[in-house]
Amino acid sequence: MSADVFAEVAREPGVPKPDPILVADAIRRSFGGLAAVDVAHVEVQRNTITALIGPNGAGKTTFFNLLTGFDTPSTGTWHFNGMSMSGASPYKAARRGMVRTFQLTKSLTRMTVIENMRLGATGQGGERLWARAVQVPVA
Ligand SMILES: Nc1ncnc2c1ncn2[C@@H]1O[C@H](COP(=O)(O)OP(=O)(O)OP(=O)(O)O)[C@@H](O)[C@H]1O
Ligand SMILES: [Mg+2]
Repeated sequence: MSADVFAEVAREPGVPKPDPILVADAIRRSFGGLAAVDVAHVEVQRNTITALIGPNGAGKTTFFNLLTGFDTPSTGTWHFNGMSMSGASPYKAARRGMVRTFQLTKSLTRMTVIENMRLGATGQGGERLWARAVQVPVA
């Protein structure tokens, strides 16, 4: 996809994207009296590398945990590739194509570093020429 896919997109938080693969609404999660996540609306454009930035304790990991079924929000709905993911367990989220890696390496201690990295890149054909020639692009 061309780099100017965002040409018509306003530089504002939560604006609609031309072809979002992930859309989340009203995602909230509190720990006691602490509101760790309070996201009104977010969209991630398909086939782009998108970063979520914020200071330590901002709620990034908690947000990813919620979207991938490792934690449950108090409110909110989200869709991945048009499929509702609310209430989906981690393995169902992964099988539907939303795969995550872990910030803490202790999560999957029995796997090597490279195995941990490969976990987040399912369906990758690698960089071999022949594999690239026959690889079907991921939609
Ligand atoms: N299981 C939990 N129980 C209680 N509080 C939690 C729990 N998990 C996270 N928190 C709190 O929620 C807030 C958000 O934490 P989170 O780990 O999501 O931040 P982060 O943006 O990923 O930070 P970092 O940049 O350090 O990775 C923090 O105040 C944290 O202490
Ligand atoms: Mg984190």
